[in-house]
Amino acid sequence: MINDQLTALGQEALAAIAVAPDLASLEALRVRFSGKKGEMTTILKQIGTLSHEERAAVGQLANTLRAEIETALTTRRETLEAAALQVQLTAETLDVTIPGTANVVGHQHVMMKTLDEVLDIFISMGFAVAEGPEVELAANVFDKLGTPEGHPSRDWGDTFYFDKEDKHVLRTHTSPVQVRVMESTKPPIRVVAPGRVYRKDEVDATHSPMFHQIEGLVVDKGVTMADLKGTLNTLVEQLYGKGTATRFRPHHFPFTEPSCEVDCQCFKCRGQGCPMCKGEGWIELLGAGMVHPNVLRNCGIDPEEYSGFAFGCGLERMTMMRYNISDLRLIFENDLRFLTQF
Ligand code: DAH
Repeated sequence: MINDQLTALGQEALAAIAVAPDLASLEALRVRFSGKKGEMTTILKQIGTLSHEERAAVGQLANTLRAEIETALTTRRETLEAAALQVQLTAETLDVTIPGTANVVGHQHVMMKTLDEVLDIFISMGFAVAEGPEVELAANVFDKLGTPEGHPSRDWGDTFYFDKEDKHVLRTHTSPVQVRVMESTKPPIRVVAPGRVYRKDEVDATHSPMFHQIEGLVVDKGVTMADLKGTLNTLVEQLYGKGTATRFRPHHFPFTEPSCEVDCQCFKCRGQGCPMCKGEGWIELLGAGMVHPNVLRNCGIDPEEYSGFAFGCGLERMTMMRYNISDLRLIFENDLRFLTQF
């Protein structure tokens, strides 16, 4: 009687296990048939009513069936697990042949390209790079550089003042960095100082109220105009090729004596005259000169012991010439159609 029940249960279990659709239903079958509170246990509870011999036979049958069910469960579990893995692998397949979506990476602005080229040239000549604030003391922008109160370049119409007392201004040139460097370091000094400068200019193809300059300053014992010429000739030859001539014209700056403006031979026509140099054969490059003894003195350096040269150069014009850009506004408008060309 119990034997028949067990055999029937065994057959039902094996049949169900063989077709269990997934791991969850397989686990449910295990609990149902061979779990501690399962159907097999329920049947075996009747074993107390049996004789000793009958008990042994039923026990043996029960053990055999349990083992068969266990084996069937294991086999089915392995099959189901393998199938599940296969499904997962298929779902997670990466098609490495599909073209990717490229990230758009920006690149250096054309102005910064020019600046880097120029800085590389000066660094190779032993210059350090200095910086100063764009909101600067009027004393550093003007007074200590030989332009006292009443000087035309201090005009309200030319300059962005920050406070009623005219103590701070947006620097109109990078020359105040000279003052900061001389006041904070002892000669020998050899620095270039790039940065933004501000003037009350209307925007047009060649003007902007904000533009960039690079300042240069060398102070040491026995520095002469020959050192200035050698340095600027090296700059021009590195930028525009060996043998590119320079021209030094007398000029006036309040903070240098003597002062000059420096032109370089037109790199387009090599001095023949062309639209780039407006038929002149020369292109104006920068202002320069020997640091005025008063400026040295204002910054705590004894002009009897030291001398120096300085120069200041606009970077936009240099960039426009280098990359054939006809309108200054393009440089600041951030139009990617323009910027990505460089
Ligand atoms: N600061 C002048 C300007 O903005 C340029 C300049 C001229 C700088 C002569 C110098 C210099 O250091 O020596 O126009």
